[in-house]
Amino acid sequence: KTCILIGAPMDSGKRRRGCLMGPDAYRVAEIGPALTDLGLKVRDAGNVTPDDARAPDALPGHLHAPAEMIGWTSALARAAEEALSQGVPIFLGGDHGLALGSVLGAANHAANEGRPLFVLWLDAHTDYHTPQSTQSGNLHGAPLGYVTGRDGFHGFPEVAHPVPHENICLLGLRSVDPAERDELQRTDIRYHDMRSIDETGIARPLEAFLRDVAAANGMLHVSLDVDFLDPSFAPAVGTTVPGGATIREAHLAMEIICDSGLMTSLDLVELNPFLDDRGRTAQVMVDLAASALGRRVFDRPTRAFS
Ligand code: ARG
Ligand code: MN
Ligand code: MN
Ligand code: MN
Repeated sequence: KTCILIGAPMDSGKRRRGCLMGPDAYRVAEIGPALTDLGLKVRDAGNVTPDDARAPDALPGHLHAPAEMIGWTSALARAAEEALSQGVPIFLGGDHGLALGSVLGAANHAANEGRPLFVLWLDAHTDYHTPQSTQSGNLHGAPLGYVTGRDGFHGFPEVAHPVPHENICLLGLRSVDPAERDELQRTDIRYHDMRSIDETGIARPLEAFLRDVAAANGMLHVSLDVDFLDPSFAPAVGTTVPGGATIREAHLAMEIICDSGLMTSLDLVELNPFLDDRGRTAQVMVDLAASALGRRVFDRPTRAFS
């Protein structure tokens, strides 16, 4: 399989700047060589440029950069669809606002293939807002609201194939706004906060989800937010929340994903190199991507997905 690197140097999903340097940081941290070392073919498709767009008056006034968000969403959805017909796209963010586009494109592609799309969201946050429910006005907190077909995304590309709630699994939660929590709890979305991960471990809920993906012959989009990790290991993110996943838990999750053979696209989001400590967060994210795509300590898996 060919890994297709797609840079999304975007900062429009929130007010704090710096994520637009993410694609360069991943390239400097040698994400390409890390994957070719695994025997994979890698193509760097360069960076996406946002479409020109206008924000309709119907959107609430407190949103940050709505026109840019609309332009990124349409451009990234096209890039995702095109790349998915050729290989495994890896989106180098950029903030989590890029996932409005990457998941929209994945959903369109899956619908064309006649297969269901599943989404694994590794994040401290649920990112389930709408333009109306977000208090911060930062749409990086809204991609799951958008791709599940929630109302209120005026001017954004139509979500022709909303991702069914029951096809979504969130792991790592520890910062959920009341408006998101109330809506999320009404849905069949699977969510595991850090308490539940502390109690069951990360493998069990993840394997249960992957079994369902496999049984449905689904495509699997994985969206990895830097803040899934504990800030002590991954300081380069604007939205640090203490009590996150350890390096070991995160690698285990990636290795289980790899063993399943199910992942068809990947987002690496929210890396803010301006906040990094000698590149170590960029390096951790590259190492996690490598684990998801086949890097392992021994040739033979010591623990197989079944
Ligand atoms: N829920 C908060 C908000 O809507 C934080 C969102 C953080 N999202 C993220 N992708 N880091 O502002
Ligand atoms: Mn996020
Ligand atoms: Mn987050
Ligand atoms: Mn439902």
